[in-house]
Amino acid sequence: MSGFAGNLMRLDKAISLAKNISRSTARSLIIRGDVRLNGVLVRDAAAHVDESSAIELAGSLMCAIEPGHQYMMYHKMLGEVCSREDAHHPLVFRHFEENRRHPLMTVGRLDQDTTGLLLLTTDGLWSHRVRRPGSHPKCYEVSLSESCSPSGAEEVMQQMRAGVILHNEVKPVCVRRMEQMTDRRFRLWIDEGRYHVVRRLWAALGFHVVGLHRVSVGMLNLDVEPGNWRSLSAAEIALF
Ligand code: URA
Repeated sequence: MSGFAGNLMRLDKAISLAKNISRSTARSLIIRGDVRLNGVLVRDAAAHVDESSAIELAGSLMCAIEPGHQYMMYHKMLGEVCSREDAHHPLVFRHFEENRRHPLMTVGRLDQDTTGLLLLTTDGLWSHRVRRPGSHPKCYEVSLSESCSPSGAEEVMQQMRAGVILHNEVKPVCVRRMEQMTDRRFRLWIDEGRYHVVRRLWAALGFHVVGLHRVSVGMLNLDVEPGNWRSLSAAEIALF
């Protein structure tokens, strides 16, 4: 989609360009409640959207953005941050060239102390599909500060599969699958994007996570060395 001024555009204009319909038709669709923006029903035709916005029209995500997007996997190193600016920590973005037409964004975030698979793209719709809850579980390797006895580990795994309520929250977090690797290392699959979710999950059961590494997102496994990145193939992009 062309015409993003300063990366922002009115919602009715974005729909009219993407669907090749008039602005007034786009406005009627919005007003009658056919449009969701980032999962929320909007009736304001003047709402601002940008390349990262997920626009749904009558339940389908709009493929509104022109080709030429970038999709990559990066092996995040310890201490790096996913923010755009940080005076005190290295940014993951330092590894990528100044972007051309579309801004590069991380698909979700990893904490400063988490390593492993980080996806980056310029395609907001794709990013939204990757992050949509319930669709593409992420696998993490967790190292704990203390060991867990075999019976303790079994109990923890049962609790995590059944659902754990995090501190100050109501909705439980469920772990899809879990494996014990050693007395203090586990692998777990989760499709949640809540802030610090894995660390808080273990904290809720009385454990302290000292190492967290993301191994995969959906069917996509990390296969580059720390600090390196590669572009995804068309088949990999189509996994999401
Ligand atoms: N859960 C966390 O606690 N941290 C991450 O970086 C990712 C998931």
